[in-house]
Amino acid sequence: MCSAASLRACLAAAPGAAQVETDFACPQQLAGLATDAAQRLQAIGQGWQRLQQRLGEHEGQLLRAKAVREAAPLLLGSQHLIHAVCASWNNEARYAMAMLQVHALDVGGGRPGASRIQRYRELMRELAPSDAGEDPQAIGDDSGVCDGAFNLAAMLVLLGHFPESLLPQILGANLYLRHCGVLPMFAFIADGQPERERLLDLRRDPSGSAQDLAALAEAAVREYLAQAGPAAQQGMRQGYCWARWQVESANSALLAVLERWLDPREAARDLISRRRPDACQYHEKTRLNKVPMRSLLEEDDSLRFLEHLAASAYVRAGNPQGSPLLTTLVSPRGKMFRIFSRDDLAILERWIAGLPYAEQPQPQPARALWKDDGLLAGLLGEEVEAPILATRLAPRQAYPRLLHVELTPAEQNHARHYVNRWLVKAARGVAKGRCPLPEHWAPGVLREWLQQQHALSNQALEQPQDLPSREEVIADIVALAPLTMIDGAWLAGFAHPSLAASAFGSRLFETLYDELGNGLEAQNHPVIYRQLLRAVHGELPATAAPGYAAAECFADEDFELPVFWLAIGRYPQSYCPEILGLNLAMELSGVGGGYRRTHKALVAYGYPTLFVDLHNAIDNISTGHSAWAAASLDAYLSAFSTRDRDELWARIRTGYVALNPPREDTMLDKFKETMRSLL
Ligand SMILES: [Fe+2]
Ligand SMILES: [Fe+2]
Repeated sequence: MCSAASLRACLAAAPGAAQVETDFACPQQLAGLATDAAQRLQAIGQGWQRLQQRLGEHEGQLLRAKAVREAAPLLLGSQHLIHAVCASWNNEARYAMAMLQVHALDVGGGRPGASRIQRYRELMRELAPSDAGEDPQAIGDDSGVCDGAFNLAAMLVLLGHFPESLLPQILGANLYLRHCGVLPMFAFIADGQPERERLLDLRRDPSGSAQDLAALAEAAVREYLAQAGPAAQQGMRQGYCWARWQVESANSALLAVLERWLDPREAARDLISRRRPDACQYHEKTRLNKVPMRSLLEEDDSLRFLEHLAASAYVRAGNPQGSPLLTTLVSPRGKMFRIFSRDDLAILERWIAGLPYAEQPQPQPARALWKDDGLLAGLLGEEVEAPILATRLAPRQAYPRLLHVELTPAEQNHARHYVNRWLVKAARGVAKGRCPLPEHWAPGVLREWLQQQHALSNQALEQPQDLPSREEVIADIVALAPLTMIDGAWLAGFAHPSLAASAFGSRLFETLYDELGNGLEAQNHPVIYRQLLRAVHGELPATAAPGYAAAECFADEDFELPVFWLAIGRYPQSYCPEILGLNLAMELSGVGGGYRRTHKALVAYGYPTLFVDLHNAIDNISTGHSAWAAASLDAYLSAFSTRDRDELWARIRTGYVALNPPREDTMLDKFKETMRSLL
């Protein structure tokens, strides 16, 4: 673990920060920063252009295959920086909405497989022949990538975990990344192809809209400063300058690595040093050029090993097709079949084709040109705070804390226990027959079921019902405020880049994005609900302000379900089936009869109806959130075996009932249950 304070100190150490005197609140000065960022990168880009001009077609392919893997951590890191900036504690703030909009564009805005990361995956598949590194999310496992490629990337991922304490730094770093346009390393990978450039330009929407992500990042910076005051300027400057320093260093270092990579011996020595630890386990009797192979392997001198291999009977200099190392030894009946990957074989083939080499190789390997800077290794060993046992907090006390992303270990424990206790109650409700979902899931079943539920809800409206009194309407609106002001909170975890564009998670992210207004204040559900509250009750403090949860107009029980939403929303993987069930229950509740009934009551007393009208539309069962909830469930369950589906479906049903679980049993209920079990 590492603390926000030590990360802050790390960022503050970036060179050049003292020279930047930009006023981040001034649009003209922000534009000047963008020009400056581009000019500085242009100077580094010239080195890349010179390299490009030297390359033949085959060499170009080869270096692009290397570059696309080496650049993957940076791209990945950039996509993990801002995913948690917009959360329940700040969901009405304009800067948070702007950042969510940038993130939504990055992740494909609800289209499965359309995120920048997933599109990059396709690019890796296209450019790199390798099996390794095809999934950018797993790029950390690719031992071929230089350690230095993670200096910037790992820090970006870590910063993303501190969206509150390091918010100014995140806004500053994000602004720089969006200001850059296509980085020299990405321009080299794009090779002039417009589609690739669009994907790799962090200023542009990878899906092709004309949205300017730098303009959104600038708007977020200005909006935040308007709210937080000039003290936040320093943090922003640190984030901006640190990102600039790191990005420029990364582009220079990768260029140096690629220039060296033109020598076929570089890839070959890198391969030997990576495979050496495993190879040491074998080759007891093999000799290379009269020297025992095992002792050569144990030496950790890959150049010396290559010299002996080149002089051995396994290799014919300049003739890969005539070399047993690449023919008989690795054939399906050879001793080394499948010992080398396709990528390894290509590396050895190129090395043999180049033999003998006229010049001495460089003493240091290419990967030494881009090393781990060691900054994070020091921080990760840091003792931050020892976990404490769960504290018992009443929901009303827990609410203002759980609105936040950064919690103490005790608060995290509390959240987890709260979810578990709540789900036990919900499971009891399922056992008592309170789940209206079908007992078994099969493809198509949910769609039919949704239509039935919709019809039932509308039929109920046709029954004559008394209009609730004005006092009842006001009481309901106020009591629902702690819940509605965190609309979408149960889906917060689906903003994570690994879920937001997945087959089952993309619609859940889009639902969350809709709840929070798609970047527009006028469409933000908490903002709209606050307008309704203002009309019926008057002004209330900001949701995360200390006075909100303490407001006298709320009862203690008004916080019970909101705390469950906030708590379960933190665990999109552990409680995925329960969240999917809860989401369906939530999106369906009110659609048809419920919202229309409330609409009538609001009209009768002259209150704004926008909140219920928009929900009756947006949550609709054909193409709205309810339909997406069912489609997400279908996509999720389809990926599992029949037996697993039954288990997951049971958890989904519990999640469904969790929207409205039975209250604690009375003594009479417990007595009846005991009697039933005895009979
Ligand atoms: Fe909503
Ligand atoms: Fe919704």
